[in-house]
Amino acid sequence: MSSLWLDTHTVTVPQTPFPQDQKYDAAVAGAGLTGLTIAVLLARAGLRTVVLEARHIGAAATGNTTAKVSLLQGSQLSSIRSHRSDEILQAYVEGNREAQAWLLRYLDEHGIGYQHRTAWTVAHTAEGVQTLENEYEAAQTAALPVEWQQPTELPYQVESAIALKDQAQIHPVEVLDALATELLERGGQIVQGARLIDAENGPPVEVKTTAGSLQTDRLILATGAPVLDRGGHFATMQGHRSYALAYRIPSGTPVPQGMHLSVDEPSRSLRTASAAGEELLLVGGNGHVVGRADSPAQAVADIEDWTQRHFPGAQRTHSWSAQDYRPADYVPFFGKLRRGGGNIYLATGYNKWGMTNAVAAALGVSAEILGGQMHWAQTLSERGPAIRGAVTAVKDNAEIGARMVKDWGSAEVGALPDAPPEEGRGVVGRSGGKPVAVSTLEGATRKVSAVCPHMGGILQWNDAECSWDCPLHASRFAPDGTLLEGPAVSDLKSAE
Ligand SMILES: Cc1cc2nc3c(=O)[nH]c(=O)nc-3n(C[C@H](O)[C@H](O)[C@H](O)COP(=O)(O)OP(=O)(O)OC[C@H]3O[C@@H](n4cnc5c(N)ncnc54)[C@H](O)[C@@H]3O)c2cc1C
Ligand code: FES
Repeated sequence: MSSLWLDTHTVTVPQTPFPQDQKYDAAVAGAGLTGLTIAVLLARAGLRTVVLEARHIGAAATGNTTAKVSLLQGSQLSSIRSHRSDEILQAYVEGNREAQAWLLRYLDEHGIGYQHRTAWTVAHTAEGVQTLENEYEAAQTAALPVEWQQPTELPYQVESAIALKDQAQIHPVEVLDALATELLERGGQIVQGARLIDAENGPPVEVKTTAGSLQTDRLILATGAPVLDRGGHFATMQGHRSYALAYRIPSGTPVPQGMHLSVDEPSRSLRTASAAGEELLLVGGNGHVVGRADSPAQAVADIEDWTQRHFPGAQRTHSWSAQDYRPADYVPFFGKLRRGGGNIYLATGYNKWGMTNAVAAALGVSAEILGGQMHWAQTLSERGPAIRGAVTAVKDNAEIGARMVKDWGSAEVGALPDAPPEEGRGVVGRSGGKPVAVSTLEGATRKVSAVCPHMGGILQWNDAECSWDCPLHASRFAPDGTLLEGPAVSDLKSAE
């Protein structure tokens, strides 16, 4: 399951040995769009900067996104407005507008191609139409020139649609490559295969990774889910995973040229992409909270069926999935980590709109470090807790707690079956008094602890990606227990 982006562009940076015990002005954990943009901005200001990446550049959301760079974002604006003041909504849109302009200017300056497209948000039901009305009003409040549009260019009926002209779509890995190259040219360093596991506040901040330790004046967590638990951010966000498939459409069948997103369930996201000289159609959707879907494989099959119904004869070229984090009030968090001693920053919670929000967070964090001032960034990073968001967070946490108890219970009840699972399957059961996760993949049966090392969630098998996923805060692990992503910082224990 490699994404179209990772499959069609390779980022080659020289392998750097871990700079053991070296001292930096800034260390950034995570080489996605957030981390590399922050690192470039700090390196441009002359700070000695190192990026520490657990896996490889673009390994998580940025390498597996759908990469629409849009200010019309499904129902995001009305969701913010229902939790927060109009001032915060306006600051959010202003930050996204500045980030979009920064990113597209960056691509122009570096000769990286992208396409201008109209962004559409569409509704299929009466309830969806109400959501569109709310979104339209929120867009008006934020002075976005969104328009009602019917008919659409889609080959099926929709109830209603709003559109925003002159947005853009990009190849995200080409962007990461350009950022990594500029960082190295400016004397920055990128160390891949070094996972941050802990940090002492400092100053200087003592950074511990799986590859060694170093010191830094400031540490920036650009790891998707924040990996140091002390700010408690992971508990006020939900990890949402969704699926993307790329298709070759038979010649003669019209391909929608806009970037479309439906607000009803099941959600559908469409855009085109050029790869190796041909135009493909990307179809995404079927999002769910990580570790809480009965069968992710069914979610993929459902997108396939839908595509064949609306674009008969479409030939699938790629299929992948990824996750992003939704904060309780829908507003991203960037700035100083609570209880981080003033030298640790984080940027997270983009709710699948990180192509603009990652850059906005990078502009905000780098301004805070370098002493710049941006009114929108200050309004967003200094906002207090939202009453409505807090209630949602408590509800989410209660659901999570209930799930944890239930899963411990069922793991206690069910003994592990004697026979190994069939190929591509995984099962959790009790063995030797402990919850154990057993899976079979490519003929190999592996047994690992079923208890997430983050905070004890019981893992669930993901039959689309053959991974163990945590329903609590969205950590994911390979069948052999290797940590893939999420707030956990260690692998699963072997249960062999
Ligand atoms: C399916 C999907 C579709 C999307 N589509 C869009 C879209 O069309 N438009 C849009 O604007 N946004 C979209 N998004 C959102 C966007 O892709 C993300 O918000 C954005 O890529 C996040 O970037 P990031 O750099 O913060 O995180 P990531 O890209 O996830 O990068 C985090 C990096 O940190 C590394 N890491 C993790 N833990 C550690 C550690 N302990 N130590 C060191 N490194 C670590 C990871 O390996 C990873 O490389 C989508 C998201 C998903 C999931
Ligand atoms: S990710 Fe928090 S308990 Fe698993």
